[in-house]
Amino acid sequence: MYEAYRDFAVRLAREVGAIHLSCFRGTDLGIRTKSNISDLVTRADRESEEHIVRAVAACYPTHAVLGEEGGDRGAVGGDYRWVVDPLDGTTNFSQGLPVFAVSIALQYRNETIVGVVYAPYLGELFTAVKGGGAWLAVGDAAPQRIAVSPKRDLATAVVATGFPYDKCDNPDNNAENVARILPHVRDLRRMGAAAYDLCCVAAGMLDGFWELALHEWDVCAGELIVREAGGEVVALRADRGVSIVAGNETLVREIGRYVR
Ligand code: IPD
Ligand code: CA
Ligand code: CA
Repeated sequence: MYEAYRDFAVRLAREVGAIHLSCFRGTDLGIRTKSNISDLVTRADRESEEHIVRAVAACYPTHAVLGEEGGDRGAVGGDYRWVVDPLDGTTNFSQGLPVFAVSIALQYRNETIVGVVYAPYLGELFTAVKGGGAWLAVGDAAPQRIAVSPKRDLATAVVATGFPYDKCDNPDNNAENVARILPHVRDLRRMGAAAYDLCCVAAGMLDGFWELALHEWDVCAGELIVREAGGEVVALRADRGVSIVAGNETLVREIGRYVR
């Protein structure tokens, strides 16, 4: 029933990926700072979001769009809302590092029904429709069903995290969590794109992920993809934006013993 929305989101994600790649490692990224020196936006972020907003307005004029760069737009207050991060991993992108993605989710009456995350440089397309499992297509290959890691022992787990943009002014910046959990895991990763981190959890490439102070656009699509891959995404705390732990049920509990 929701497959038509997924197919629209996949087409859009591939178009946005082409925008990313047309700028990536170029000489004119149009980099500006937002809240502070760590928080960047590039021309590719802005052009990608405008492309998404225009496409939704053309195909679904009764739908709203929440985007990182432009906030709420379109037919706000209706049943359908697209929640989009036009370029997740802007710091990587600005450095020429290849882990970045576009994240597109669709909510119906506040429930996420479609999630699509596309990492164009890597050629990885992650998709989920509520109730239909989670899928990964690499390059032109057919999508394969994905599942979260079955590991139960944190000592064998490779987990990822990230750091909030206010890390310089706010000591509640995840550094102590990293120090606490580090001795208890096989290793830690800071991939630099929360939507992609969640998809790596969904595909079992990461065993777990946690992060504080994210936003809806970072996680909306990835959360559905993790759940449809048999995993859990739980709220870590309520006082620091969207703060989550993701993984299988056991590892979510184990990670939760060390992070707050
Ligand atoms: C950021 C990335 C990063 C995470 C930050 C996010 P952006 O998103 O997902 O991995 O640590 O908290 O804000 O700014 O690149 O879209
Ligand atoms: Ca983001
Ligand atoms: Ca972004």
